[in-house]
Amino acid sequence: MSSPTSTAESVPTTLLSRLQQVVEHAGSHPEAAVCDLLRILQAEHGWIDDERLQLVARLCGISPVRVEELCTFYPLVLREDPGRHVLRICDSIACHLAGAPGLLRMAVAQSGVPLGQSNGHYSVLPHVCLGLCERAPAAFVDGKNTVAPLSAEALRQLLQGWERES
Ligand code: FES
Repeated sequence: MSSPTSTAESVPTTLLSRLQQVVEHAGSHPEAAVCDLLRILQAEHGWIDDERLQLVARLCGISPVRVEELCTFYPLVLREDPGRHVLRICDSIACHLAGAPGLLRMAVAQSGVPLGQSNGHYSVLPHVCLGLCERAPAAFVDGKNTVAPLSAEALRQLLQGWERES
């Protein structure tokens, strides 16, 4: 395992130890730990900023560009601050046919920002198949809960609830 020459200032020491353990567990293939490190850091911080990306690169002994490539490949990794809440609406084929495009347009209209951008409190993102095709259109809320099928009314209420929080 590579020892970081400096640590991300905002990453607590206990969390850093946990990350190092994950890398140690990957043995001679530290790159295999990248996704786990990104998942842990995103759970802690909400998204992967440049500081955390650099930390993952240092811990795994690979280039930041390689970590960035992996972040780009995995749609669950957020490289911009999404705000407090994230709604992912599946736009793969079954959900597309079941009305996802209309739901995405509705979410854009209600949030006031383009897909993938935060309105300061929440973000709405298109997402690949969530494995809930038989209950399309499907959504994934805050990385924890699925809603399927997602109705226009449920979407409106969800976003209104988030707007009341802000
Ligand atoms: S296509 Fe949307 S959940 Fe599978």
